[in-house]
Amino acid sequence: MRATTDLDGLGLDDGGHLLVQRALEPLPAGGRLTVTGSHPALRVHLAAWCREHGHRVTEASAGGGETTGPGGPVEIIKGTAGEQRWRHAKRAGAADGPPDERADPRWGLAARGALVEAGGLPIGAEWTEREHVWADIAPRLYAAAAASQWDPATAVDWTATLEVPDEIERAVVQLMTYLVENEQAALIIPARLLSQLHPHFREVMQLLATQAADEARHVEVFTRRGLLSGGPLGTSSAGGRASLQTLLAEPDFTTASFLLSVLGEGTFLDLLRFIHEHAPDKVTADVARLAVRDEARHVAFGVAHTAHLVAADKSYLGVLRQSVERRHSALLDTAGLNTEVFDSLVLLAAGSWEPAAISRGWRAVRDLQASMDEGRRRRLAYIGFPDDEAAELSALHTRNFM
Ligand SMILES: [Fe+2]
Ligand SMILES: [Fe+2]
Repeated sequence: MRATTDLDGLGLDDGGHLLVQRALEPLPAGGRLTVTGSHPALRVHLAAWCREHGHRVTEASAGGGETTGPGGPVEIIKGTAGEQRWRHAKRAGAADGPPDERADPRWGLAARGALVEAGGLPIGAEWTEREHVWADIAPRLYAAAAASQWDPATAVDWTATLEVPDEIERAVVQLMTYLVENEQAALIIPARLLSQLHPHFREVMQLLATQAADEARHVEVFTRRGLLSGGPLGTSSAGGRASLQTLLAEPDFTTASFLLSVLGEGTFLDLLRFIHEHAPDKVTADVARLAVRDEARHVAFGVAHTAHLVAADKSYLGVLRQSVERRHSALLDTAGLNTEVFDSLVLLAAGSWEPAAISRGWRAVRDLQASMDEGRRRRLAYIGFPDDEAAELSALHTRNFM
């Protein structure tokens, strides 16, 4: 098979090789390409380029006759290097379809659907099986997350006047201090899961990235509200931190997502709604409202992913159960919730130190705990736990809420 291409005055060092490459592409190995052009160094450069790319320049073209002189045609015989290079290449799944059941570590960072040249180091990802990271809702949740990113500087009116009685303000500051601590754990966990996830599961990777970004904003707005009256921040209890640290240590993708998102962030939905409802000022109400919207997505993924895995493997309920029990025993000797946080919730709902108000606040916090428990049981039942087991596991959930 033969072909010709004319480079006109274009040199190989000015992009002429692209024309040669394009003309060689349809030829089989051994096919001949005649290159014409008037660049004075064309022959010399072509010879060097062909050596580098495994093609040959024919004897005839280097000789005399019509082809003599710098502007004469040069004949190239196509080599086999190009074909060899892609012989063992494989597609990394399908770009527009769902991810494959198993992501090959040798695909590494290749885009899903790319033709992957063989060779290269495998990626050191921990999670390469779809069932262990996936939920069908992930692409939609990522799209919703991308569309719902808000700017902490403008989404909250930070200049709104703060007319909160000192003692109530101290309760708000304590709650904000506690929230920041929890948000920091909630940021680190998806970031850690993300770093060990095979990028073939693109939508989960993107979703975890937006989740970490959401938590970064929550850390910011809660810190900012905590400092709004001039600081300092409140206290951090050893028990609260111990509870969060057990989450950081959870080694498995699904149990980490289950403990953090289904049980912890699920419980936080009620907590944030409570703070929103009883907020003594607009800034507190706004930061709680903005955070709860994001948290709803985090919970939705945790629930959907856990249910997805359980649907494929019923025995996984046992693994989930053990993760709750293990965490419960690890935290047995800790105080659980910071008492200052509990008291702040009561005071927030009471609005004053009047005995009747405190009684109202106390009841409100008791109702809050009941609705947290009910929410956990509902989510556990959705995942597949029988009602009695769901109630049992909900009761074992950390007193720190997260
Ligand atoms: Fe958050
Ligand atoms: Fe979250």
